[in-house]
Amino acid sequence: RQREAFLASVRDSTLPPPAPRRVPRPAPVEPEPGEPFRNAPDTDPAVAASRSWAAEVIGRRVAVPEAVTVTTTADVDDAVARAQGVAATWAGTDPSARAALLRRAAVRLEEARGDLVATMVQEAGKTVAEADPEVSEAVDFARYYADRAEELADGRVPGAVFRPDGLTVVTPPWNFPVAIPVGSVLSALAAGSPVLAKPAPATPRCLQVAAGAIHRATDDLGVPRDVLQVLLSPEGDVGRHLVTHPAVARVLLTGSIETAEMFSSWRADLDVLAETSGKNALVVTPSADVDLAVADAVRSAFGHAGQKCSAASLLILVGSAGRSPRIAHQLVDAVRSLRTGQPTDLATTVGPLTEPASGKLLRALTTLEPGERWVVQPRRLDDEGRLWTPGVKDGVAPGSWFHRTEVFGPVLGIMRATTLDEAIDLQNAVAFGLTGGLHSLDEAEIAHWLDRVEVGNAYVNRHITGAIVQRQPFGGWKASVVGPGAKAGGPHYVAGLGRWADAADLP
Ligand code: ALA
Repeated sequence: RQREAFLASVRDSTLPPPAPRRVPRPAPVEPEPGEPFRNAPDTDPAVAASRSWAAEVIGRRVAVPEAVTVTTTADVDDAVARAQGVAATWAGTDPSARAALLRRAAVRLEEARGDLVATMVQEAGKTVAEADPEVSEAVDFARYYADRAEELADGRVPGAVFRPDGLTVVTPPWNFPVAIPVGSVLSALAAGSPVLAKPAPATPRCLQVAAGAIHRATDDLGVPRDVLQVLLSPEGDVGRHLVTHPAVARVLLTGSIETAEMFSSWRADLDVLAETSGKNALVVTPSADVDLAVADAVRSAFGHAGQKCSAASLLILVGSAGRSPRIAHQLVDAVRSLRTGQPTDLATTVGPLTEPASGKLLRALTTLEPGERWVVQPRRLDDEGRLWTPGVKDGVAPGSWFHRTEVFGPVLGIMRATTLDEAIDLQNAVAFGLTGGLHSLDEAEIAHWLDRVEVGNAYVNRHITGAIVQRQPFGGWKASVVGPGAKAGGPHYVAGLGRWADAADLP
């Protein structure tokens, strides 16, 4: 009967027909001479709508909330004192009230989506396609860690009570300048610790805008703003004073292994939880779905111009996959059709490097080691050295410099292995163990690879970047992690930011 009523209402409808939707047609992108064509007919209104949203957002002028500027060690001491002033109250706040703050922060971060995307595009050089899901990840962290905060309530674990670490310093990287600091900050707040967050020098405004959203949430709920302070400081002594301050109980670092080691050398008893570097490989066996494998390799290697700790830097082809003309042609076509440019151009798929290429990355982009050859040679498009077309080098030798070294940019190296075991040996023969991938449609191969691969995040038939909160908790193995090793966006992360005491032992 419902269906009949519906059909009748449609038949009898006196509503005027919907107005035709005006769908702006983006200007066609001219391929460079010799490059394949890439303009698909733009018939999907949802795509056009998202383009017009993106076009509005990337030109936005965002008001950046103020942060605490610390230029002297005395400024650091002041910020520490303010944080300590709220530490006991925040630790004693009922976990469900802390969870409420995180849920409110999720709402405020979602409201700030356009401003956050704009700031990431303008300051970090991210494309909208990379920046937009990063906001979603930040919101996911807020909601997920809110649920984890609830689990810390007294009595939830019989006989045990949770005590947060206390004053926590968050030092995030520049490559995920919103999701990573927001995740770190909110995990510590969920645990009950106040936070001093020091943004990466290249991307301070991204964190300031995110912190602005979190502060709107604290204001909404009457939580003191000092539970989170963003500290802007020059590099050097001031940063060292912060990290080594005796009141600081915990550091959440995402950055290079060198920075993690430097922090630990400064203060041996420092509790550092660090997610560091990676040298990640994607293995493709002859049974793989070639279309999927190539698309995932390209996405994993060149998303955000390869500036991800999770990025694929090596493609290891097993057996006949290494001789497959189809894989070779599709890979070259796909890489050539990427477009390097400014992120304010919506056609850009590979944005600028955050810093001009230098050191290891410049070496990887401009030189070949013995046995290597360019399949797609990178080209520098600007004087500064920030805009590079992506490169693919074949013939990377086992044990060579490129096999073992994280370069953090748009270069993918191809290696070949006779068997899956040989491929796994190559994959495992690096110091790091962050992400890794396998493309195979063979159940036995998949099980064998999962059993042997030494990485924190092992992905099967999927790109190896873009871990999803809860679904793929993110964290490394071997030299990719320092500290207890609970994974971000996973069930144990918040509970790891404190200690469980026996209720009977407490006064
Ligand atoms: N969490 C980020 C990723 O998975 C680093 O790519």
